[in-house]
Amino acid sequence: MSERCIVLGVSGGIAAYKAVELARRLTREGYRVKTVMTEHATRLVAPLTFESVTGQEVSVSLWKEPGKPMHHISLAREAELILVAPATANLIAKMASGIADDLLSTTLLAAECPVMVAPAMNAAMFRHPATRHNLEVLKKRGVEVLGPASGPLACGEEGEGRMLEAEELLEAVKRRLAIRMDMAGVRVLVTAGGTREPLDAVRFLGNRSTGKMGFALAEAASRRGAEVVLVSGPTWLDPPPGVTFIPVETAREMMEAVLSEADKAEAVIKAAAVADFAPVRVREGKIKKERAELLLELERTPDILAELGGRKRPGQVLVGFAAETEELLENAREKMRRKNLDMVVANDVSAEGCGFASDDNRATLLFPDGTCEELPRMSKKRLAEEIMDRVVGMLGRRE
Ligand code: CTP
Repeated sequence: MSERCIVLGVSGGIAAYKAVELARRLTREGYRVKTVMTEHATRLVAPLTFESVTGQEVSVSLWKEPGKPMHHISLAREAELILVAPATANLIAKMASGIADDLLSTTLLAAECPVMVAPAMNAAMFRHPATRHNLEVLKKRGVEVLGPASGPLACGEEGEGRMLEAEELLEAVKRRLAIRMDMAGVRVLVTAGGTREPLDAVRFLGNRSTGKMGFALAEAASRRGAEVVLVSGPTWLDPPPGVTFIPVETAREMMEAVLSEADKAEAVIKAAAVADFAPVRVREGKIKKERAELLLELERTPDILAELGGRKRPGQVLVGFAAETEELLENAREKMRRKNLDMVVANDVSAEGCGFASDDNRATLLFPDGTCEELPRMSKKRLAEEIMDRVVGMLGRRE
């Protein structure tokens, strides 16, 4: 029997009955499941039901646990993960503002382990700007929000607000617990997004990069325990929790930020789409359309990755990307050699459904010894994990 302890928080939504099945499944998977219920939840399902399926005591009150004056602290420390299912709008609001007025909310405030919430509520309550805002706050803090799904709701209405099924929540827990802390203490520098090169006071030359790949890499490294610095061109994405974020605009600014951080990093991963050319001069004010033609004179920007390759210190791992539309592998191999890289992630940005702005990517990983791994199409988040696995391997720090 595994000693891995999960705290299952149950707040007062009708979906509490589904949490019984979840508690049963988690227990069957070998987890020690400690249920913490709110007072309201006990009106919907009896604590004894959870106690029976988990074989563990169920806690409700901050006060009524004889001999356990600091029960919230011991629960928070013992838990490898806390899952709140169902998480009502009220509980989510309390978490977002740090209110600790019962055992479950106090345990959540004391928690340092991963926390996941499975919202369950009426669709209008879920759509309410207050709930939206609270969930965003939680996400920014690293809380994983699971669902909700759409469908018939307990109130008789239809819409978004159904708690995910036990099966889906179980999978999410297993996935989260499978994340290894194999980058603890490693300093990683990641670049993301596209740069913008100003043309005049209001215009710039840019590219289609959204930053998704680089942000996924920063998030993956941070979740595995790395200290991450993320240097990114303009993007609408929120920096992942716990990551040091340095926003930049031009290739030159990115170069400065990267060079000042690179020496400290054991691994540098350059996912940014850096402009290769910038206008020779930036016009003051706005270019007027008085002429029929406008010729732009462009000059090469510094190649940041090549610069990093030139000054790579022993043991440092340098990973580059190669976005190509033709001769994928040959061009990528040539970039790896020219820029002194330890790995290059080659992707064919002309492939359908992959590349810029997409959630998916199809990549081939190339190494200096000539080996090459062709990966199937997968989400950028999944690809980020695959890349980190290789980086960990190269750093020789596998657990
Ligand atoms: N890169 C960089 N600085 C630049 C251009 C590119 O650091 N000025 C990095 C990118 O972050 C990426 C890698 O180099 O990791 C390859 O970028 P890519 O645009 O595919 O290739 P380039 O080296 O620019 O070559 P080309 O444009 O000839 O394909």
